[in-house]
Amino acid sequence: MTPERRDAMDEMIVKIRSGRLTRRSFLERATAIGLSSTAAVSLLEACGGTSGSTGGNGSTVNIVWQSEKDSTTPSVYQSVTDDFNKSVGHQKGIHVTWQQGPASTNDLLTKYDDMLRARSHSIDVMSIDVVYPAEFAANGWSKPITNTQWPSSARSNYLPGPIQSCTFQGNLVAAPLRTDLGLMYYRKDIITTPPETWDDLVSMSKDAVAKGKTKYGYVWQGAQYEGIVCDFVEVLYGFGGTILDPNDSKKVTINSPAAQQALAAMVSWVGTISPAAVTTYQEDDARLVWQNGNSAFMRNWPYAYSLGNASGSAVAGKFDIHGLLTGGSNTDGGHSCTGGWNLAINAYTPNSDASWEFINYLLGPAAQKKLAIDASQTVTLQSVYDDSDVLAKQPLFGKLKPILQNARPRPVSPRYPDLSNVLQQHLYAALKKQETPSAALSAISSGLQTLVS
Ligand code: GLC
Repeated sequence: MTPERRDAMDEMIVKIRSGRLTRRSFLERATAIGLSSTAAVSLLEACGGTSGSTGGNGSTVNIVWQSEKDSTTPSVYQSVTDDFNKSVGHQKGIHVTWQQGPASTNDLLTKYDDMLRARSHSIDVMSIDVVYPAEFAANGWSKPITNTQWPSSARSNYLPGPIQSCTFQGNLVAAPLRTDLGLMYYRKDIITTPPETWDDLVSMSKDAVAKGKTKYGYVWQGAQYEGIVCDFVEVLYGFGGTILDPNDSKKVTINSPAAQQALAAMVSWVGTISPAAVTTYQEDDARLVWQNGNSAFMRNWPYAYSLGNASGSAVAGKFDIHGLLTGGSNTDGGHSCTGGWNLAINAYTPNSDASWEFINYLLGPAAQKKLAIDASQTVTLQSVYDDSDVLAKQPLFGKLKPILQNARPRPVSPRYPDLSNVLQQHLYAALKKQETPSAALSAISSGLQTLVS
C-alpha cells in the first residue's frame, strides 16, 4: 500500500467515525483506492467502533498485510483476513487489509527494500520468502517475535524446519506461515509409473509427445528470477551436487562434474521436451500450460494441486504428485527445494501488538486448516498433515511427509539476494545458450566465492 493510499484510508476512517462521510461515499472511495468490495465492507463494519480495542477509546487499529501472490480464486488470503476481521479483529478492535503481491518474489523484495530503507510502515505485516529472514534480521527490518508472544510450548506444534528458517542468531525474526516444496506433477492418464530419474522423465516425455498424447513433455520455471534457482538446485541435488560445502559455508562447491551434468541436462530440455518459452516461465506460466492439458509433467509447488483440480482445469482428477528425481550415478534419492513464506512485523510499525494478534491468528488451527483445504498450501502446523478433513479434500497431504523429510534449502546468508542474482544471471544465460554450462558454472563459482568469503 502506498503512503498516499494509506493516508486516504486513514482520512476516510476518521470521517466516517465523525459522521462526515456517508456509508455510500465511504464504499465508493474505498473502491477508488483499490480495496475489493468485501474488504471495503469489512473495513466499514470495523469502523462502527468496538469495545475492548487495542487502539484505545474504542477505536480500530487499521493494519496492512502484504502477501506474496495468491493465485486462488476467490482469494484464500482475503478469506482468512475476513475471518480474522470478523472474529478476533472484531473483539480486539483490529482491522486488517490484505494486499495482493507480485508474481515474482524478487519484485516483492524490492518493494520491501524501498519501504524499509525509507523507514516507512505502509505495510505492517510482511510475508517474506524463506530465503530472506537473515537479510531482514541483519538490517533490523523486522521486530523479533518473543517467547512471551509465542512460547516454546506452542512452537513445538509446528514444523521445525520452517521455524529454523525464521531464526537468525538465536532470535525468531518472523513466524512461519507455510513451507513449500518442489513437486513433480505427472499425468496419471499418460504416465503409468512415475519416473525416478531425469533420464526416465526425458524418455517418457518424448514418448508422450511422439504418441500425440500431449503437446509438451515437461514444463518448469526457467525465467530469470528466484524460481530458476529453485529448479536448478533440485536438479543439482538430484545429481549429487551442492552449491556450498555442507561442512564449510565459506567454500563454494558448485563447479563440479555433478553440476556440469545437471546444468547440461536442463539446457538440453529447452526446446526439446520443454517449450523454448520455458525460459520465460514463472510458476503460474507453467501451471497454465499444464492446466490446459498441454504437458505430461510439471515441476511446481503444492499450490498447483488444488488449482489443477479446480473446475475449468483440463487436468482435474487426471494427475498425481511425486518427489523430485535423481540423475547420473547418484543413488541418494531426489531432493525438493524448500521454499515457503514467513510473517514478519515491520520494525517501524507502531502497531506491533495488533500485527502479532493477526500473525497469531494465521498460525492458528482455523486459518492453517483453511489454507490447506482451500489452497493446498503446505502450512506449518503439524496436525494439519494428519487431519481427516484435509486428507479427504487434498489427498496430496498423505504423500508429503517423506518428500518434506528429504527436502533441502537453498544457501542461507544475509547476502542471499546477491548470491541468488549471480546464480540467476548465469543459469539463465546457460539456458539461453549464451554461455556454455561450464562457463556459467565457473562464473557462478567465482561470483559466489567473493560473496561468501
Ligand atoms: C515459492 C517459494 C519461495 C520461492 C519462490 C520462487 O513462492 O515458496 O520460497 O523463492 O517460489 O519463485
